[in-house]
Amino acid sequence: MDSDEYGDAFFQGTKYTRGDLPQRSPDFIVKPDDFKVYEDAERMSLPRQFTFGPNDLKHVLEERRSRRRFSKEPMSLAELSTLLKYTSGISGDETDQGNFALRHVPSAGGLYPYETYVVVNNVDGVKNGLYHYYPPDHALDVLKLGGDYGKKVAAICLDQPMAKDCAAAFLWTLVSLRSKWKYGQRAYRYMFIDLGHLAQNLYLVAEALQLSTCAIGALYDDEGNEFLGVDGYDEALCYVGVVGRRVE
Ligand SMILES: Cc1cc2nc3c(=O)[nH]c(=O)nc-3n(C[C@H](O)[C@H](O)[C@H](O)COP(=O)(O)O)c2cc1C
Repeated sequence: MDSDEYGDAFFQGTKYTRGDLPQRSPDFIVKPDDFKVYEDAERMSLPRQFTFGPNDLKHVLEERRSRRRFSKEPMSLAELSTLLKYTSGISGDETDQGNFALRHVPSAGGLYPYETYVVVNNVDGVKNGLYHYYPPDHALDVLKLGGDYGKKVAAICLDQPMAKDCAAAFLWTLVSLRSKWKYGQRAYRYMFIDLGHLAQNLYLVAEALQLSTCAIGALYDDEGNEFLGVDGYDEALCYVGVVGRRVE
């Protein structure tokens, strides 16, 4: 198949047709883990002050824009914490989640087939580096410190400078098995929709906090996967969100 036909083949091949639905029932014995765990990483708890400013939802929706310029003022840890909480964080009682830890965004089957990595470039009280967000503890696991990872992320994002100028970049991977476990190949439709919901919350929360943010889908995929240490198959970088203080 020519590479310019893959998308069309996927779209046709994953259709649901009346009378011909795939016959599968998810097996809970082999349900993939809900969260990725970095056993040996140092864990940094995030503050649980979540503030949004005075603007109501109507105002936030009216004003939301992709904003690609950032001031050199650092973002606060409370802002980073709020952004993580309402994009990838768990809603309700984190200690009583059973099999499905529900979150602030919808996801097909409640499966949340993604992981959030954060490159910190300019956040008050947080060392620059690469982190992984662990939703059950609302915490960041330290993966690597130092290094000019902002530049690296910009290079991954087809050399778009906003990815190095931002205070933080959220790198979202898809862990396809979590969704394929229930939906088979149709999962590939749902997983990207799920990621869209996540990114929309980044936009809305950033707007409420008067920050700048922009989604980035233009990626050198293999470079991104190598940077995160993921294989590009079971887990693959798919989307990036950059965020930081606004230029007045
Ligand atoms: C899936 C997706 C990928 C995007 N990728 C990029 C990107 O790589 N670079 C960029 O500058 N903007 C990117 N954007 C932002 C869009 O350009 C922007 O949403 C669009 O121009 C509409 O503007 P608005 O968000 O200000 O309403 C992306 C948006 C989406 C939803």
